[in-house]
Amino acid sequence: MELDGLDPNRIPRHVACVMDGNGRWATKQGLPRTEGHRAGEEALFDTTCGALELGIPFFTVYAFSTENWRRPHEEVRFLLSVIADQLLTRRRDELHQMGVCIRFIGRRDWRVPRWVVKRMDEASALTAHNRAMTLTVAFNYGGRAEIVDAVKAVVASGVSPAKIDERTIHRYLYAPDLPDPDLVIRTSGEFRVSNFLLWELAYSELVFTDVLWPDFRREHLVEAIREFQARNRRYGTTGGRGDGIPN
Ligand code: IPE
Ligand code: IPE
Ligand code: MG
Repeated sequence: MELDGLDPNRIPRHVACVMDGNGRWATKQGLPRTEGHRAGEEALFDTTCGALELGIPFFTVYAFSTENWRRPHEEVRFLLSVIADQLLTRRRDELHQMGVCIRFIGRRDWRVPRWVVKRMDEASALTAHNRAMTLTVAFNYGGRAEIVDAVKAVVASGVSPAKIDERTIHRYLYAPDLPDPDLVIRTSGEFRVSNFLLWELAYSELVFTDVLWPDFRREHLVEAIREFQARNRRYGTTGGRGDGIPN
């Protein structure tokens, strides 16, 4: 694949992805929705390999939202098993060999079965020291829940209200060491954020594509980065030199 004409000096540091459209992909082929989730795992693996090849240090994917529990029980169970069995068991060693550090953001509440928590912990422990790329899986994740959890932790810390600023909130997010995403991709032709990384995407570039997630491959990632590289990030400034635009 190589860089496919991309500017190597402007590869985004952090790419995040809303992997959407599994159900529609399956329905289009007359298959049960669950087959879309199964096929989505291949897309995730291929795209992760592509991100690694491109030298993207941080890649984050939205795998299961705090709202996804509202789906039929059978589908929820299937989704959990795709994440825990396929990604965290079957692919885990391959990802480890490639030097990928796997981590998770989201709530670990009573709804997450113990066996899933165990697989998550095992994958994180195994890959904790890998440095080639960090793959963050947003699981039982909600942007609002993350902000609520951060606020609770701020209050519990006993800090005086006058001392609270954006950095204080940031310190208590699920993964404060991750840089904010430069680029957020959403597949399947939906133009919404669906409670993903609400705090962190304040200045992210958003790229939407009609491709359904199970069809998404590293080439589509390259396409999205091409679009990203054509954007002019201003961060509220007029965009001139010396405007104090953060790196
Ligand atoms: C994304 O595909 C997977 C998750 C949300 C977990 P969907 O299952 O939402 O597929 P569509 O949007 O119904 O096609
Ligand atoms: C967002 O997709 C959540 C994940 C991809 C995990 P959804 O399919 O749940 O979002 P909505 O319902 O279309 O907003
Ligand atoms: Mg969807």
